[in-house]
Amino acid sequence: MSGLAWGRRFLVCPPEHFSVLYEINPWMHKEVPVDADRARAQWEGLVDVLRRAGAEVDVISPVPGLPDMVFTANGGVVSGRRLMESRFRHPERTGEAALFSAWFRARGYEIAEVPPGLHLEGAGDALPFGNRMLGGYRSRSDIGAHAALSAAFGVEVLPIELIDPRFYHLDLTFCPLDDRRAMIVPGAWDRYGREVVAGLVPEPVVLDDDEAAAFCANSVLVNTTLIMPSCTKRLGRRLESLGLDVVVVDVGEFLRAGGGVRCLTLALDVTLERPSPVRR
Ligand code: ARG
Repeated sequence: MSGLAWGRRFLVCPPEHFSVLYEINPWMHKEVPVDADRARAQWEGLVDVLRRAGAEVDVISPVPGLPDMVFTANGGVVSGRRLMESRFRHPERTGEAALFSAWFRARGYEIAEVPPGLHLEGAGDALPFGNRMLGGYRSRSDIGAHAALSAAFGVEVLPIELIDPRFYHLDLTFCPLDDRRAMIVPGAWDRYGREVVAGLVPEPVVLDDDEAAAFCANSVLVNTTLIMPSCTKRLGRRLESLGLDVVVVDVGEFLRAGGGVRCLTLALDVTLERPSPVRR
């Protein structure tokens, strides 16, 4: 496995104010309280594993009243020193966007804006694969925002329609492993999306429905360590045969908000190359 050119530096947000206070995806149930101490311990455990795998971790301060801010993957899309800001679908998360943008602006990033009236939920719906980007859309992000994303980063954005409400963000269905391989949940995509990925990923690791529902795709690769919210024996064997070291971290409290390992991180070291101009 050649691995990924990115995934060694992440933005995270401590779960000080994390809770399930509203229901904006099918996994969230307000009546089951989150165990704050357990959430804190699980989050610390994840950060520890990220660091031990060789990643650097940057921290954004949590803000009261924004319980989902812990899911930094939705804070924006990063390439080089540019951030494509987020615009959240649900009012419950709208306030996060300006806070993430301010964090990046303070560090000298150029901020690109989402056109009025359109939604884009950050890297949760925009994952690099080689020099392209896959863009998830429907229940959260709008396909109309892909043009702005493509213009901001000078890359092709391939649209994937997410048709299963359980998998409302692309990062619950797709996890890049290198430039030939990715874990995928094709049943969560429309036919066109399945064709796009079939053409793009020559050696997919296809997850079964139980693995998909256990958020196996919501994993983070750091060097050769694949950090997963859960894994099955079958899948673990397959991943290990590719030369990966699988580490499962318990993020159970966060799964109750519909987020796993990937959702809790935002890669800061993605640099998509602009295609070189055509010579005449
Ligand atoms: N409760 C959050 C939401 O519904 C979870 C976000 C998960 N993030 C992700 N990148 N899939 O928005």
